[in-house]
Amino acid sequence: MNNFNEMYKKKLKSPDEIAELMQDGFVCASPICSGEPFDIVQSIAKRSAEGKVHDVEIDGLLTLPGPDYLKPEFYDKIKHVSYFLGPGSRKGAQSGQFDYIPANYSDIPSILCSRKLDVCLLNVSPMDKHGYFSMGAYGCVGPAILRSAKHVFVEVNKYMPRTHGENIVHISQVEALCENDRPLPELAVTEPSEDEKKMGSMIAELIPDGATIQLGIGAVAGAIGKALINKKDLGIHTEMFSDSMVDLIEAGVVTNERKNIYRGRTVSAFCYGSRRVYDFIDDNPGVEMLPVDYVNDPYVIAQMDNFISVNSGMEVDFLGQVSAESIGPMPFSGSGGQFDYVKGARLSKGGRSFIAMNSTAKNGTISKIKPMLTPGAAVTTHKNEVDAIVTEYGVAVLKGHSVRERTKSLINIAHPKFRDELAFEAKKMNILI
Ligand code: COA
Repeated sequence: MNNFNEMYKKKLKSPDEIAELMQDGFVCASPICSGEPFDIVQSIAKRSAEGKVHDVEIDGLLTLPGPDYLKPEFYDKIKHVSYFLGPGSRKGAQSGQFDYIPANYSDIPSILCSRKLDVCLLNVSPMDKHGYFSMGAYGCVGPAILRSAKHVFVEVNKYMPRTHGENIVHISQVEALCENDRPLPELAVTEPSEDEKKMGSMIAELIPDGATIQLGIGAVAGAIGKALINKKDLGIHTEMFSDSMVDLIEAGVVTNERKNIYRGRTVSAFCYGSRRVYDFIDDNPGVEMLPVDYVNDPYVIAQMDNFISVNSGMEVDFLGQVSAESIGPMPFSGSGGQFDYVKGARLSKGGRSFIAMNSTAKNGTISKIKPMLTPGAAVTTHKNEVDAIVTEYGVAVLKGHSVRERTKSLINIAHPKFRDELAFEAKKMNILI
């Protein structure tokens, strides 16, 4: 038995014993989705509820439902700070209980570290013979918080894949660990609607063979993946790796051979999909799971020619300002990497960025194309950075066009039942005469 196994045994504790190491006022951080160690945060919540530790803060992003500390009965016991609201944190943020820090995803590692972290909480793969755990499904903020926190607590999970990339943790860096074989959270694969398929095909027509792609979060971005099945030699450099990308790799559409950097390999900052995706990335030398401050850095993205970014939005106004993170003043998600990719694609030779969204929301009752953003809506993509907006009715290229031209193109891709009303408003605003 080597020394690492001895170290492992000495550090192995129960989740409750790990929670006993928490002190009043400790600030903890965890990576995205499957990166959060479930049993450890449950024990921290329990200890807080018992009044044995006070004023603990847990920071995270795209947090999923499940852990007790996100439930209303814990609002006054644990502080939660989110950098991107997920289904687990949305309600708490909307009711003013959780704090939300607006940030581009590429900046989150450095912002988190500047907040003087006490504890890094990670969910990791089993240890290998060299004493290394893999963060598996994520790079994300993992390497940054690992290095800046004073205490590192990990949960070892046999379902966490072991991936290649810059996302390893050595047993010597860990203060305490527990074991918990809990299946990783999965994102249901949904069949794209007819409208989403239309948007997918329109965008696919504008993507050249050999392009490197990023597909964002949400139903529309998933549909684009399916529409790319007849392309050749695509590359993937993306924040989120998901099911549709596995389809493209397995079909031979993605070879990564024409990428300027990381040639031959898919690069991602985290994976969220079905179990099939987690199995696909397991010990796969063709996939690099890297820290998000590198993956989403616009200057890194810009190094790849013909970089195509596809993301989604909640609403867009006549200027081309896109809100993708709030419904009016009500926070919904976060900036994520949308601006990182819009900017990176803009700087890439031959690069394009598309914001694709259904023309309406709420069963067709609301137009997502608006004269002005709803008061309080957060601007995710700035009017000077936006490239093209896509709905099921077409593509409106805004980059380099006047406000009048932008307005006309946007009205043309609005749902027909809203076009007259939008034109009327544009006239009132002296944009159309
Ligand atoms: N007015 C009112 N409600 C609206 C709306 C609008 N203009 N647009 C959307 N909504 C509602 C929808 O009806 C839906 O409500 P429901 O949950 O009650 O059905 C909800 O908001 C979510 O909208 P939907 O279009 O289904 O979201 P999605 O899952 O396709 O995700 C974004 C779209 C924009 C929320 C998502 O892409 C996002 O968070 N983007 C920001 C980050 C980003 O782009 N990152 C890129 C790299 S991964």
